[in-house]
Amino acid sequence: MKYRFGHPFPTDAVIRKVALSSGAPAHFSLSREGELVTLSYPLAEEDAVYGLGEQMRGINKRGWHYESWNLDDPIHHEGRTSLYGAHNFFLVWGKECFGAFLDCAGRVEYDVGFTDRNLFTVKAKDFDLYLFEGDSPSAIVREFRALIGRSYIPPKWAFGFAQSRWGYKNEADIREVYEEYRKAGLPLDMLFLDIDYMERFKDFTVDKTRFPDLKAFAAEMKQKNIHLVPIIDAAVKVEEGYPVYDEGIQKGYFCKDASGSPFVVGVWPGNSVLPDMLNPAARKWFGSRYRVLLDMGIEGFWNDMNEPVLFYSQERLQDALRIASETKEITCLADYERVSHTFFGLQNNDGDYRAFYHETENGRVVHEAVHNLYGYNMTRAAAEYFAEYAPGKRFLLFSRSSCVGMHRYGGIWTGDNSAWWSHLLLNLQQLPGLNMCGFLFAGADLGGFGGSTTEELLLRWLALGVFVPLMRNHSNLGSRPQECYRFTRTDVFRNLLGIRYSLLPYLYSEFVRCAFENDMLFRPLAFAYPDDVRARTVEDQLLVGGSLMIAPVYTQNAKGRYVYLPERMKLIRMKAGDRFTEQTLEKGEYYIPVSTEEVVFFLRCGKVLPLARPALNTASLDDKNLTWVKFIERPTAFTLVRDGGTSQIRKEDFETVLVEP
Ligand code: NOJ
Repeated sequence: MKYRFGHPFPTDAVIRKVALSSGAPAHFSLSREGELVTLSYPLAEEDAVYGLGEQMRGINKRGWHYESWNLDDPIHHEGRTSLYGAHNFFLVWGKECFGAFLDCAGRVEYDVGFTDRNLFTVKAKDFDLYLFEGDSPSAIVREFRALIGRSYIPPKWAFGFAQSRWGYKNEADIREVYEEYRKAGLPLDMLFLDIDYMERFKDFTVDKTRFPDLKAFAAEMKQKNIHLVPIIDAAVKVEEGYPVYDEGIQKGYFCKDASGSPFVVGVWPGNSVLPDMLNPAARKWFGSRYRVLLDMGIEGFWNDMNEPVLFYSQERLQDALRIASETKEITCLADYERVSHTFFGLQNNDGDYRAFYHETENGRVVHEAVHNLYGYNMTRAAAEYFAEYAPGKRFLLFSRSSCVGMHRYGGIWTGDNSAWWSHLLLNLQQLPGLNMCGFLFAGADLGGFGGSTTEELLLRWLALGVFVPLMRNHSNLGSRPQECYRFTRTDVFRNLLGIRYSLLPYLYSEFVRCAFENDMLFRPLAFAYPDDVRARTVEDQLLVGGSLMIAPVYTQNAKGRYVYLPERMKLIRMKAGDRFTEQTLEKGEYYIPVSTEEVVFFLRCGKVLPLARPALNTASLDDKNLTWVKFIERPTAFTLVRDGGTSQIRKEDFETVLVEP
């Protein structure tokens, strides 16, 4: 059922035509204040609310308030109400079971039992509301996902392990990381290039003093089965003579202020302008700029700073400087506050998001009304160009900012987390929400982006990361270096990364199946065991694909943890290679010892798990000779996907294997 409120800007999130329903939507009561619509739903004690994608604060979202307003704020503490994505699908489950999607380009506010524990409200203007009915949460998610279209599938090599860090400045740095990985026998598929590869942070340029011949370097690394993955930022440096700037200005492809002049903001390159990703011609043009790097043999990118981030707008900065210069001396707190507020308020200022415009197919639109579509359309720009550049080929592409709809074009990473134990748990809790919204290819910065990681935290985080599609260790400039060879127990890191490669035939096959069947790779226990009251409260375990349950350790100095088994399962311990031990456990609550040297997980009853021999990279992974871990009494089918990994997958690539007990 579809209902329209106001004049929604077309987001292209939905791929099917749905006729508008008449009357009022079921489940909610409605109220209006001007253009703002509030949908209210009374929550019963047993009601849980799932979804909202990347948002923080647990798998069940009840008890907090959230906002869909894509924002770069690198401190992801519990008080936050929004991160980088606008993922407006949620599912209410308790006294009734239904799903809702707000197809909305602007701000949406959710109060999920925050103001009043028993009331859920959603506030927005100009949106289409889709309602989904079904007899289970999984069925509702599938219905929604069918409406928004198939999730992006990256090349197979993108399921390998990736090392990244903001601070690798030149070819020698990248080479050194590669050499250290190789010397230590640590598996690796990708090395990431952060902003320092560019010439003064100018998109689609390469600093020749740092990377004298990136094309040759990329080819050499590819020979070694390593993909180089450069970053692309949203904003373009203002600099005459820089072709991307000159061309964009000449064609009028940058966002403009009310007077029609390019809107100037500050990002890494200093004064910059924002490509108008919502103008189809500008989007096509921006996408085609990736060619410079594609021609150098680059096959993967990460799109950053595309909320878009404004460190300042030129106009607001000038005001702040004027206020500061007029304040000759600070004699009281009020003087200090006036000056400091103007500076603190420069970044990502709401007023600035109201001060520039897009030239869209639907006319001129103020940015604020379509804010959450910016990163989505940057990524779409790239993906649409890749399809033209090399039809049928799969590229790696993921973005920091996103909105439902972008899931067809690329994946996401969850941005600037910290080296905190709570963020390991957060990583796990974000995955089901992301999957519900179509983002299957996702991951967090393993070890934490900001702050100082520790060997123990990184090992525990990797023990979760081995199950997550995007497995990337990334960290901030100036933080403690956290490449896997920096710590004392290199052999343990080698084993853990090896386990990732052993699990790849399973993860990759299940990932592709989930994309084709609109299924979730990561499900809360509640979804798989709906009648189990205890399972419905579990916030720190997940099902991974059809066969596995994971319960990672996420506290410092732990020797193990309590795990709830909602049915009879086999506990599997892997320490090294594709070897494992198994132990059958009945349904119930257990304390499971787990050392930092192993990956422990559970195989569900009636299920099987294929394991490959560990490999140093995806290219040398042998997915023909598999060992099967089994918990079956009769022959059981498993669907393997063993395609070449770089061209579009077809149904014919699915291979059903019958596993004997
Ligand atoms: C912000 C991104 O979130 C981070 O991953 C990256 O390292 C920095 N920008 C620098 O490019």
